[in-house]
This record gives sequence, C-alpha cells and structure tokens, in this order.
Amino acid sequence: MGKIVLPSNIFCAPLAGCSDLPFRRMTLKYRPGLVYCEMVKMDALIRHDPNTYRLLDYEPSMHPIGGQLCGSKPEIAAECAKIIEDLGFDVVDLNCGCPVDKVTKDGSGSGMLKDLNLIGDVLSNMVAAVKIPVTIKIRAGWDSSHIVAPEVTRIAEEAGASAICIHGRTRAQGYQGPANWDFIADCKRASKTIPIIGNGDVVDPISAQKLFEHTGCDALLLARGTMGKPWLIEDIYRHFLGEEPIVRTGLDHRDILLEHLDHIVSYQNDRRALLDLRRIGCWFLRGGKNMRHLRESLNRSKSALEIREMICNYPWDEAGIFDAEPIEQAIYAHIAPSP
Ligand SMILES: Cc1cc2nc3c(=O)[nH]c(=O)nc-3n(C[C@H](O)[C@H](O)[C@H](O)COP(=O)(O)O)c2cc1C
Repeated sequence: MGKIVLPSNIFCAPLAGCSDLPFRRMTLKYRPGLVYCEMVKMDALIRHDPNTYRLLDYEPSMHPIGGQLCGSKPEIAAECAKIIEDLGFDVVDLNCGCPVDKVTKDGSGSGMLKDLNLIGDVLSNMVAAVKIPVTIKIRAGWDSSHIVAPEVTRIAEEAGASAICIHGRTRAQGYQGPANWDFIADCKRASKTIPIIGNGDVVDPISAQKLFEHTGCDALLLARGTMGKPWLIEDIYRHFLGEEPIVRTGLDHRDILLEHLDHIVSYQNDRRALLDLRRIGCWFLRGGKNMRHLRESLNRSKSALEIREMICNYPWDEAGIFDAEPIEQAIYAHIAPSP
C-alpha cells in the first residue's frame, strides 16, 4: 500500500464504538494485514479533545495500524492527517461512508458522496501533508439512483490515494440487506492503479473467497464478521492456504470471551466496562445452543466480576458447535450500530 508493505491483504475495519484497544488486541492475535481504529472527527482532533485522542490509543505490537478521519473541511484535512502521522500511524483513511444523520448533515461521512469535488480536495490536501499512505473508505453511493463509487475511485486515484475501500451498500440502505459486490467489481474496472479493498458481508472463508472471485479486488476489509469471532482472520488464512478448518467449540468461545473481558476490564472504567461487557458478551454467544439464559443474565448483570462468574459457571460444553447465524440477525439483535 503506497510505500509500505503489509503482512497480508486481509484487513480489519474501523468500527465506531467497537474497534477500541481491547477489541484490537483480540483481532491482532490472528495477524490481520492492517487494523483501523474507530473513526475520529477532524474538528475534535484539532480541538485536542481528550476523548477523541483516546479512540486512537494503540500499542507498539499493533502496527501496521490505520487512523480514520471523518470530516469535510479541506482546510483542516491536512493538519488532521499530519496529527495521525505524528501519532505514529502507518496509514490515514478518510471516512466517506458513515450513514448517521448527525455526521452527514454537515456533509461528512457518506454526505461526501454528494460532492465529489470536495472528496478530491480533502484527499489531495491529506496526501500533500503526509508521507504515510492515504486511503479512503466509501459506500457505493448515497442511494441506488446515485451510484458514484467508480467515479470516486478515479478521483481518489488522481488525488494520490494509495487504496480505496468500497462498502457495497448505499447510504440509504444503512446496514440492511446484502452488500452489492457488483459495485466493487465496477470500481476494480475503473481503477488504473489504485488497489481496491472490498467490504461487506464477509463472515466466513467462503464469503471471503467469493468476494475476491466476484470482484477481483486486491484486499478484503472484515467488519461485523469479526465481532465475537476475532479468529475469522485466521480461518480465512487457513482456507486460502488449503489447511483444515479449526472447529471452535463452546469452550473455545468461553476462553476467547474471557480474554476479551480481561482486556476490557484492564482498559475501561467500571461503568464503561460493564456496558461493553454486556454488549460484547452477546456477540460471543451467537450461534451456540442454550445461550438464551446466559444472554439474558449478562444483560441484567451489575458488575464485571458478576459477568466473569456467570461466564465461568456456564456449561459451555453443552453449547455444541456454533452455527453461523445470518450477520444482521446476529449483530443487530444485540447492538444498535452507532458510527
Ligand atoms: C457498529 C459499527 C460501527 C462502524 N464504524 C465505522 C467507522 O468508524 N468507520 C467506517 O468507515 N465504517 C464503520 N462501520 C462500517 C464497517 O466498517 C463496514 O463498512 C460495514 O459494517 C460493512 O461491512 P460488513 O458487512 O462486513 O459488516 C461501522 C459498522 C458498524 C456495524
């Protein structure tokens, strides 16, 4: 990517409210090619807002790591990209996909897809300001009547971006319905040199293979598929290397959940840790048998210690082999997306 060499082309997405330091510690166990922090607002970054800087916490073992900027003002984009570079990040990304009203109303996130010249201006300023690769992450378009992804691919290439990630949904779709990978294939055809990162609905090795085959994309960005399943990265590597899949038992799920829990407790204050644990606990239970009772107990729990005890005392060996649940059902049953 640009002048840097990444260890693989399977990446982990920015996930607001999720891809915090504990989450990244978990995904990094399985050696992704690149991980992104949660998006940060450009305005908050130049204001030196401490909560915003905390979203960019990382550890030396987390390289290569990307920071993602959300904002639509070309006049501050350069300074913000430089801040990300100075913080030691390997890549800086521009968010042109966030669908949330309070972000799009000032023209940021997927609001940028309504003003393609602005995307070019913001990206060019970022590229001019830093030596690290600048990437951009977009949705296919604002809605199905305004698909702009191939045009943005050309603009990003001209602006000097080092890669473009396409989430194959429109802003109007939110997170509903399947991602349309045809849009990613169209961007691959539109690209002369810029690498294409495909994103949307990769939940297992087969969907990873199909996305590569369908689009010819150069890399994959995993998102909701890694929630409660950080080993998805390893499963995909094994598949492409022709190795036997690893069967993850209930006890494997328990152990990895406890590990994530310990990272959360060591990083967050008690109140935040409890909220995170209730939410994250549910990710790890999806697809297992007889998990309803544990899920309900987690949601009623009053402390991290209580959650730990519930998890340890649960008969995980009765959970069977975890079935793959459809991604929307699995994720949206428990969390409201908040990027
Ligand atoms: C809870 C949540 C938070 C997200 N936060 C971000 C974000 O900060 N930046 C971003 O570019 N995309 C964000 N996304 C979008 C994902 O990175 C990804 O593009 C999307 O989920 C589609 O991939 P998937 O179908 O594999 O989940 C978020 C998605 C979810 C569900």
